[in-house]
Amino acid sequence: MTQYNIALLAGDGIGPEIMVEAVKVLKVIESRNDVVFNLMPVEFGASAWFKTGSSFPQESIDACDKADAILKGTIGLSHEESKKIPIDEQPERGALLPMRRRYDTYANFRPVYLPTELAHFSPLKPEIIGSGLDILIIRELVGGLYFGKKEAGVNEKGLRYARETLEYDEDQIKRIVEIAFQSAMKRKKKLHSIHKSNVLKSSVLWTEIVGEVGKDYPEVKVEHILVDAAATYLCLNPSQFDVMVMENLFGDILSDQAGGILGSLGLMPSACVGPEKAYYEPSHGSAPDIAGKNIANPYAMIGSVAMMLEMSFGMDEESANLWAAMRTVFADGYSTADLSEADSGITLVSTAEFGDKVVEALTK
Ligand code: IPM
Ligand code: MN
Repeated sequence: MTQYNIALLAGDGIGPEIMVEAVKVLKVIESRNDVVFNLMPVEFGASAWFKTGSSFPQESIDACDKADAILKGTIGLSHEESKKIPIDEQPERGALLPMRRRYDTYANFRPVYLPTELAHFSPLKPEIIGSGLDILIIRELVGGLYFGKKEAGVNEKGLRYARETLEYDEDQIKRIVEIAFQSAMKRKKKLHSIHKSNVLKSSVLWTEIVGEVGKDYPEVKVEHILVDAAATYLCLNPSQFDVMVMENLFGDILSDQAGGILGSLGLMPSACVGPEKAYYEPSHGSAPDIAGKNIANPYAMIGSVAMMLEMSFGMDEESANLWAAMRTVFADGYSTADLSEADSGITLVSTAEFGDKVVEALTK
């Protein structure tokens, strides 16, 4: 019997309610495999700050250190509520970024996946979206502007200013680019490197390194695309892309754009992988406006479970079953409210009902 410790970081906003659905499917998978999931719920985010005075308390750090994998919900509050927390303790700066740094989760995988039967969810015209999408965005997650030196104050002219540094060294670029080439080898052997080397020196270095690493992967066809142009192509001809690799901030922005192209950020799960530990999370935020209403889409959360099963536990078959189960729910005409406007023929279901339907399809 294999045992896995999983730290559950439900977080804020819709986090707790979508986490309940993730746990539902984990129980099903556990019940029919020779495996035990030791689920360890821990405090994380703004809710943790209000309870303990820290958004990533020591007890939670210890649990994550011990975990074989970390499953995270969502963090963050409304703009108004956020103001109650000191700026450096707000959950993004006080919990999420420290966790990324602690576990050095440099490789962020964000699948942009819309199978044929869900293609109608995309706001793009049918002739553009065609039979769906299957792109893998690989985002560098622990470098660049997010983690560079920051300062703010008043300058010599008496004006308030802020300065942040965008810095990458060659090792930081090399390791994420390696991951991208390896992913491309497992897929269509096509890699788009996204950069801004007409302006940024960090992108000049990035592009240079893509060329160097690429020598070890002669079968992979590489295209270099400026980030602004890539944003346009994502709308005009997204199916030209297979694997895309980019630095941290570019990846943050383009992956949300990709979520829009799918029809909802609720369709964007992700994996954040470091040398020793990985954590899994939906790419979307905590949606405080709909929290507690049982209407959030748990697809990205459950999809993150599917990614964890495959990438941390080697349970490829159950992972595939889970993806298939979720597709079945949509194909049977059910959806949460975020996607229902795209298709009036749909039967609206709640967060919990969606989870139940996934369980039903999974056990059939
Ligand atoms: C994401 C989120 C985070 C990011 C925020 C919550 C700090 O938007 O994972 O994409 O900017 O990386
Ligand atoms: Mn983001």
